[in-house]
Amino acid sequence: MAEVIVVEHEQAAGELVAESIRALIEAKRDAVLGLATGSTPLTVYQALGRSLSARPLDVGMVRGFSLDEYVGLPAGHPESYRAVIDREVVAPLGLTPSNIRVPSNDLAALPAAGTEYEQAIIDAGGVDLQLLGIGRTGHLGFNEPGSSFASLTRVKTLTPQTRADNARFFASPDEVPIHCITQGIGTILRARHLVLLAFGAGKAAALAAAVEGPVTSSQPGSAIQLHPHVTVVVDEAAAGLLANLDYFRYAWANKPAWQGI
Ligand code: GLP
Repeated sequence: MAEVIVVEHEQAAGELVAESIRALIEAKRDAVLGLATGSTPLTVYQALGRSLSARPLDVGMVRGFSLDEYVGLPAGHPESYRAVIDREVVAPLGLTPSNIRVPSNDLAALPAAGTEYEQAIIDAGGVDLQLLGIGRTGHLGFNEPGSSFASLTRVKTLTPQTRADNARFFASPDEVPIHCITQGIGTILRARHLVLLAFGAGKAAALAAAVEGPVTSSQPGSAIQLHPHVTVVVDEAAAGLLANLDYFRYAWANKPAWQGI
């Protein structure tokens, strides 16, 4: 079973995970981070920024691979995940821009973009810590229900539900692209440590299905059950449908001090 840590609020989750990322970078200056977009990981990036300001650390060699990108937005669109990663992660943390990759959505390069991205991750030695949010459809990255657990980076079609959920970032729902390029479930499972965050009651069903439900491609999040090192950090509302909540709390309360997340 994944380790599930229930925290009081998103800020506490951000601080917990940011400290783990900091420890990783202290141990490995060129650590490879798997970056996620959406609202969920923002407190992690903000807490890491505060930690780096308070106690400076050389992050110039840190490398990063983002999970996914929209296809079909005009170049430089502020809601492209390249722009979001630059704005929310690279600039505030002072990372080296050329070390941080996002799947290319350049139409001419698209047929080869998935293979190239996979090779770049392999060449970097693989992802050390992969941040993950979860969609209300259960998606990881943009792997919608039905995505193969063996899938690698490729172009996918977003569900109407995901387009509606992400419409809040755009001027109108029609502006949300229909297509995306996303790391596959197989790509995500190759990372050495998965850290899945979820906040709010709207995520409770997808979270319970991911952590405790049957392992099925109909719930892409359930692929985390196939990974040997998963940390799930949630608030009370997102944890609300977990059957084993008491056990998760007990395990966390009794966790040996020497064991990180
Ligand atoms: C988005 C992203 C995912 C993210 C998920 C949840 O569309 N592609 O990587 O984890 O959907 O988004 P949010 O964190 O905004 O709820």
